[in-house]
Amino acid sequence: MACRICSGRLHRFADFGRQPVSDAFVLPGDTGEEFFFDLAVGVCESCAMVQLLQEVPRERMFHEGYPYLSSGSAVMREHFRSLAGRLLATELAGPDPFIVELGCNDGTMLATIAAAGVRHLGVEPSGGVADLAAARGVRVRKDFFEAATAASILAFDGPADVVYAANTLCHIPYLDSIMKGVATLLRPGGVFVFEDPYLGDILERASFDQIYDEHFYLFSATSVRELARRHGFELVDVERLPVHGGEVRYTLARRGARTPSPAVGELLAAEEAGALAGPQTLRDFAGRVEGIRDRLVDLLTGLRARGAMVYGYGATAKSATVLNYCGIGPGLVSRICDSTPAKQGRLTPGSHIPVRGPEAFAAPYPDYALLFAWNHAEEIMAKETAFRDAGGTWILYVPDVHLV
Ligand code: SAM
Ligand code: TMP
Ligand code: ZN
Repeated sequence: MACRICSGRLHRFADFGRQPVSDAFVLPGDTGEEFFFDLAVGVCESCAMVQLLQEVPRERMFHEGYPYLSSGSAVMREHFRSLAGRLLATELAGPDPFIVELGCNDGTMLATIAAAGVRHLGVEPSGGVADLAAARGVRVRKDFFEAATAASILAFDGPADVVYAANTLCHIPYLDSIMKGVATLLRPGGVFVFEDPYLGDILERASFDQIYDEHFYLFSATSVRELARRHGFELVDVERLPVHGGEVRYTLARRGARTPSPAVGELLAAEEAGALAGPQTLRDFAGRVEGIRDRLVDLLTGLRARGAMVYGYGATAKSATVLNYCGIGPGLVSRICDSTPAKQGRLTPGSHIPVRGPEAFAAPYPDYALLFAWNHAEEIMAKETAFRDAGGTWILYVPDVHLV
């Protein structure tokens, strides 16, 4: 197996077995037609990029029925509103600025840009969510971004001041084509800004559910610096973000165009000092993951034996890895409540647990709720205080199995 970035040798360090497409929520009658792949993850011995060993064809993941909505969390809506405001005040403050967002989803971020009257384009292959973006006044192109898309955007709209992507770049195995596209589209002084789950946080919290089909790469400053270098770019800023369980926002500029901020050197030094992607760190991670799996299954099995009712909360893409790796089905978790319309009335992929709306959480409350959307814990627990008031207990499994 060769690295998708540099063709270096990959060292496999964790294996989650046979897994379904994480966002392929299935209709009760269609459970015989699911697609499965082998979910294992490795690190490149040359460029340190952590990546999946098998790729799921992109059309199986991102299509008309892709259910995920960026607007599903109030915290994320505020996160994107604030980022848009910052871009408008800085990179987009010049004459006739232009921003392109890859994976704009339902337009949560670009809606603020559109409202400011600034030229923009969202590139979004998933038709259903792209329609939602268009309905809120965002200009969107239904397409996968890649080198050819960039050339046609450039021909029509001219160069971009900013190319931005949140929780999208790490979804794309073909980064060579993406980086070529960004190099084509960006004006000489422009920036490529992207934010994705941070390898450092994933290893520290043993949040193994961040590993699933859509998360093809787990980035670090070290691996992103090398990715940038190979395409004539330079990593000029990094910012740690608290959202989605810990992310980093990377800013790339053409080599020599900007002076890197001190934060870049600091994060690179911390990754080196902590041997971030070193063999011992990765072995420790794999060991912790097995322990979490065993403790979670023991807990749920014990609760079932005592006749306790357990629901899940948040039918996240992340939950596919937990459910299918741990072998948890409707016998242990009888339903999962989730606010996303396109997930409700369906079954979780592979594990076939019914997904219901949030109103089904209180009807009546279960004894325990397994919080799959642990990255939104504060927001969800604040909304569902009546659950604990009624005697309910939350179960979390990051950074280890515990009750709240
Ligand atoms: N940016 C949003 C956010 O952070 O909430 C959406 C993130 S969602 C997890 C990933 C999005 O990337 C999906 O809407 C998917 O359709 C889109 N996507 C996947 N491959 C893409 C590509 N090659 N170009 C543009 N968007 C892509
Ligand atoms: P994410 O962790 O990938 O953002 O997915 C979060 C899932 O949890 C998504 O399906 C929406 C759901 N959710 C709720 O059901 N209620 C909530 O209050 C929040 C914030 C998310
Ligand atoms: Zn490599």
